Amino acid sequence: MKAEETVAGYRKTTWIVHGAGRTRKWDFAHHVVPPMTSSSTYRLQSAERGARGFRDYGKPVGDQGGPVYIYDRLDDPTRELLEGELARLENGEACLTFASGMAAVSAALGAVLKAGDEVLAHDLLYGCTHSLFERWYPRQGIRVRRADFRDPRAVAEAITPATRLLYCETPVNPTLDLVDLQALAKARDAANKARAAERRLILVVDSTFATPFCQRPIERGADVVVHSLTKNLGGFGTDVGGAVVCPESLYGDLKWYRKDFGGVLSPKSAWAVLVYGLPTLPVRLKRQQYSALRVARWLEKSPLVKEVRYPGLESFPQRSLARRQMTDFDGDFAPGNMIYFRLDSRRIDPVAFVDDVAANAYSITLAVSLGHTKTLIEMPSAMTHSAYAGAGAMRGVDGVRLSIGLESPSDIIRDIEASLARAKRLRRK
Ligand SMILES: Cc1ncc(COP(=O)(O)O)c(C=O)c1O
Repeated sequence: MKAEETVAGYRKTTWIVHGAGRTRKWDFAHHVVPPMTSSSTYRLQSAERGARGFRDYGKPVGDQGGPVYIYDRLDDPTRELLEGELARLENGEACLTFASGMAAVSAALGAVLKAGDEVLAHDLLYGCTHSLFERWYPRQGIRVRRADFRDPRAVAEAITPATRLLYCETPVNPTLDLVDLQALAKARDAANKARAAERRLILVVDSTFATPFCQRPIERGADVVVHSLTKNLGGFGTDVGGAVVCPESLYGDLKWYRKDFGGVLSPKSAWAVLVYGLPTLPVRLKRQQYSALRVARWLEKSPLVKEVRYPGLESFPQRSLARRQMTDFDGDFAPGNMIYFRLDSRRIDPVAFVDDVAANAYSITLAVSLGHTKTLIEMPSAMTHSAYAGAGAMRGVDGVRLSIGLESPSDIIRDIEASLARAKRLRRK
């Protein structure tokens, strides 16, 4: 869905609650809550109408002669409403949703790349994205090279004529390192000066950890933004989904890609994100950030903790970039709800600590995923990032990832403190 409607004059925190409420293709103006559509196929009044739907498929909405829904995998009204909202939230031109965050990642890349192309990606990425690059791209003749995206000069130097796409997460899962998107966009622009339009270098950013509430990469120069809707955008842990926000020039190819590879978001899941996830996003994140800062500050004081990374901490190594890049709809600092910390393994066994949390904590759950109403804990090196086993990028990444939920921060701290104490006693025995 293109972001053609604007809600002029209202703050994003208001229209994330109300949305546009209608699209040019389908009139939902009478609904206070958008309807959940559930129709795998659509009645076509004439052969001509069916032919028009296929002929115009993937064209910008404005060029089409009216709404033609054909089949759920091609297009769906509830999904389109969500896509319109997400495009507007990211200040992008268009958005397409997908069956999962990974379906969105692979489509954002797959719709652009062909054999012989090269991707330049940050050393450390979500484990399944790393696996996509290592396990599948070599078979497709796509080369993936790595660079340290925390250093934009290193990225600029690593770009070759074959490089078609720059890819990173910011904040990086799980270390919360940040990538300076404006500096990266400059490196891309410099490389594009000597390139024909069809070979333009594209900057793709996975902004899942931040959500559009904490950061809007297109405003900083990114071409494409990818999200897992499964996380804070969905927010309640009920549905899996993904989204790609892109320029209009990529919209057609991405839509054809989605139709042919088939990874569409269920309208029921789109509805959940639209009705529950988006309107509550600012409230949830503000509360989670309040708690995350308290938990991070407490962890920082613990003698059993070697390192704490949270962009909201004064000690965060990229503090000034965090303040510049991570801002909410009102321009306030928005460091998000994710914490990464490392225990002092000479004094406490991290596995014993996590096992104790799993066995005894009420307010913290051992589970992968993030951006949930419930606080989740996991060990990336053994779980979400296990695809990196033995790889240098994970050297020293032996910590614990915390996704702060909506519980009272004092209860989260109480559970962490109790598990640290029990795990420490075990080590002493
Ligand atoms: C940064 C990041 N990107 C993408 C994904 C993939 O999302 P999904 O699980 O919805 O496919 C994840 C999942 O944890 C993630 O953390």
